[in-house]
Amino acid sequence: MTAEPVSLATALASFTQRWSPRIVTAVNDYDVRVAKVEGEHVWHVHDHTDEFFLVLDGELHIALREAGGERTVVLPAHSVFTVARGTEHKPFAPVPTQILVFEPTGTLSVGDRHDDVPDHVDATTGHALR
Ligand code: NI
Repeated sequence: MTAEPVSLATALASFTQRWSPRIVTAVNDYDVRVAKVEGEHVWHVHDHTDEFFLVLDGELHIALREAGGERTVVLPAHSVFTVARGTEHKPFAPVPTQILVFEPTGTLSVGDRHDDVPDHVDATTGHALR
């Protein structure tokens, strides 16, 4: 948590790496993180927590493997979606996109279980802003 307001625009302008979330603040035991994303993330699952997404700019697709089969949700800018715990998911951004995620501090970006992590995906619990 910080004692001063955080401009999301300034935070997002402070780094260029894709799929590498920055922690902008914390709420109780949750982190608020922002990330720049483009292209594919990796199939993964968070066994113990839901994961909240807010699309700030661009468009985020999230492929989901649910009991009824696989589907993809499309989130235009200013949309929110929560991936339920235990649901395998793979985010994908067809254009440069900025997202905000809200999840328990320490949550790994590639979940508790995941496919092989490609080089362009940062497996992290979030980086501090500089
Ligand atoms: Ni996830």
